Amino acid sequence: MDKFVIRGGNRLNGTVEISGAKNATLALMPATILAGGVCRLANTPRLRDVTTMSTLLERMGVGVKHPGMTLELDTTHITSMEAPYDLVKKMRASFYVLGPLLGRFGFARVSYPGGCAWGPRPVDLHLKAMQKLGASISIEEGYVVARAKRLRGAVVSFDISSVGATGNTLMAAVLAHGTTVIANAALEPEITHLAHFLVRMGARIEGIGTNHLTIEGVDELHPADDHNIPDRIEAGTFLTAVAATGGKVTLTNACPEHLEAITTRLQEAGCDIVVDVDSVTISREGPLLPVDVTTAIYPGFPTDMQAQWIALMATAEGASVVTETIYPDRFNHVPELQRLGASIDISRNTAIVRGVKQLTGAKVMSTDLRASASLIVAGLIARGKTEVLRVYHIDRGYESIEVKLRRLGADIQRVDSEEY
Ligand code: EPZ
Repeated sequence: MDKFVIRGGNRLNGTVEISGAKNATLALMPATILAGGVCRLANTPRLRDVTTMSTLLERMGVGVKHPGMTLELDTTHITSMEAPYDLVKKMRASFYVLGPLLGRFGFARVSYPGGCAWGPRPVDLHLKAMQKLGASISIEEGYVVARAKRLRGAVVSFDISSVGATGNTLMAAVLAHGTTVIANAALEPEITHLAHFLVRMGARIEGIGTNHLTIEGVDELHPADDHNIPDRIEAGTFLTAVAATGGKVTLTNACPEHLEAITTRLQEAGCDIVVDVDSVTISREGPLLPVDVTTAIYPGFPTDMQAQWIALMATAEGASVVTETIYPDRFNHVPELQRLGASIDISRNTAIVRGVKQLTGAKVMSTDLRASASLIVAGLIARGKTEVLRVYHIDRGYESIEVKLRRLGADIQRVDSEEY
């Protein structure tokens, strides 16, 4: 089980290329089930979660090849409509096969996803939407079994904005009979990109980019190719790392528009930000200033950047308040940051971060993907050696992060470790 050994204090300088968006890929891959044939998904990142989704699709009969940065999926012979527990428990996004299986085949048997490191992750909104579209749903031995002769268009109005439930409903509705309206649809760029991909497959979707989508069901879709959008959370993580260490770094293959909630707050924190068409350059010479953030749905400050922001604010010149509104309890990174000397108090869904002069290196434990990213940011500025254990969490969502950081001047090594 690998760990990262980081010696803090180096400023980051140079250029880093941002990889394709994990959370777009994890929706695009199941979407290919909706048509028989070969889809080529370019700019697909090499991540553990992509491997897990590939394994799931292969078990369903999909041919998977990953030449270079393009993923080739051949869905000509789907032989199974089941997503087994051993894969769904590893990655909640496996639940994304529900919509396309129901849409194309009228049947799906998908393991109920468990919770995750920071608590329950319900799927009630997904199931209610499928029932609205005419599916019968039963829970059998921990599996969701969904059946429908043919889905029927309906009005699906979500009480709360859900990325996954919007994606599943979109993928179910495109082959339904009649018109579906999704009200209070998620606006995240990954969902917008999924909708554009479905249109390229022959789907008829109006309102893309808004929270009100209208889908005219069609009888059949055809394979299509795609070029993935950049990963805005990987980009935000690198921006936060540079803001913490100081220095000057240009992110290439980025999408500045997707990063506005992050870059505006980094400017308030004392960073200089220069954007171009597909690049963002960040530098910080002056003091790091405290900035409050409250997570929100897109285009607000992303919940997937909350842990990294707390790590950044740990050495700001003053106190800041970080409020998490998307998940009830996403603070597993805080006790580990406190081991590095951070001064953080948690009260319900709010973290009060009092900036300290210096963090001090220590052994810390990754608990989930973004928590491990925050520990790396903290390790880059902590005095001495920080060892981040269980980096398999980080490999789920960041492509060779230690290689990219070393190229920018960080002292970080991946080491094989018996410890876990
Ligand atoms: C997606 O998860 C992302 N994952 C998450 O990123 C991200 O944190 C989340 O959206 C919020 O932006 C992928 O895209 C693969 P939701 P998802 O449904 O779809 C509640 C990462 O680090 N809810 O938008 O599961 C839910 O509990 C990962 O890359 C219900 O109550 O998130 C949460 O409080 C972590 N019932 C809120 O809605 C449901 O049926 C938003 O969740 C579904 C969700």
